[in-house]
Amino acid sequence: MTVLAGPGPRRTGAGESRIRRGSADDLEAMERFLAELSPESLYLRFLTGMSSGSLPGLAKHLLTPSALGGSLLAVRGDVVIGHAMWAPIPDTHSAAGVAATVEIAVVVADASQGHGVGSRLVDELAVCVARLGTQNVQAVISAENHVVRRMITSRVGDAHYVRDGLLLTITAGVGAIAVTQPAYGAA
Ligand SMILES: CC(C)(COP(=O)(O)OP(=O)(O)OC[C@H]1O[C@@H](n2cnc3c(N)ncnc32)[C@H](O)[C@@H]1OP(=O)(O)O)[C@@H](O)C(=O)NCCC(=O)NCCS
Repeated sequence: MTVLAGPGPRRTGAGESRIRRGSADDLEAMERFLAELSPESLYLRFLTGMSSGSLPGLAKHLLTPSALGGSLLAVRGDVVIGHAMWAPIPDTHSAAGVAATVEIAVVVADASQGHGVGSRLVDELAVCVARLGTQNVQAVISAENHVVRRMITSRVGDAHYVRDGLLLTITAGVGAIAVTQPAYGAA
C-alpha cells in the first residue's frame, strides 16, 4: 500500500483550519460537530440511520476510542470541522497487545466538504497509523461512497476489497505505507 501524504499545510476555501489530536477536552465541540452533521453525512460515516438522540456517549468514544486508538480533529478556532480516528479491531489483538488491524474513519462538516479538509485528515491519519506497529488498516464504507473510494484509490495502490451488500470493506497493509512529504504536525 502506498499512502502519499499531502503537500504540507493547506488552507481550506472556507477560512483557516488546522489539524490536531483530539482529546477528552474536546467533548463539547465534538458533540456540536456531530449534532450539526446532515443525515447523509451521518449515514455515510456510521453506516446506520442516526438521530441526535443517538449521540450521547458517542463523542467521547470518537475522541478517545481506546488506549491503542486515537483521533484527529480539523478545527477552525474552537469549532470542529472534521474528525478522523483509528481504533484497533479487538479480535485481531496480538499477544503483545498490538492490534494486527486498525479501523479508520473520517467525516467532515457538510459546509466544509470539498475544500481539502478530508484529504488533510487522511494524510495525517496515515502518519499516525504508520507509527502504531500494526499490520493492516481497514475501512468499512458504503459501496456507493464514491468520494471516499476516490480518496482511497488515489492513495492506496494495492488494497483488498470485499463487498457485502451495500458495504465495502477495504484492507491494506501498513508496512508499505510511504509518507513522502511532511504532514501537518498533529501526530
Ligand atoms: C468523505 C469526506 C470525509 C471527504 O472529505 P472532504 O473534505 O469533502 O474531501 P476533500 O475536499 O479533501 O476531497 C477529497 C477528494 O474527493 C473529491 N470530492 C470531494 N467532494 C466531492 C463531491 N461532492 N463529489 C465528487 N468528488 C468530490 C475531491 O475533488 C478530492 O479529489 P482529489 O483528491 O482527486 O482532488 C467527506 O465528504 C465526508 O465527511 N463525507 C461523509 C462521511 C463519509 O463519507 N466518511 C467516509 C467513510 S468513514
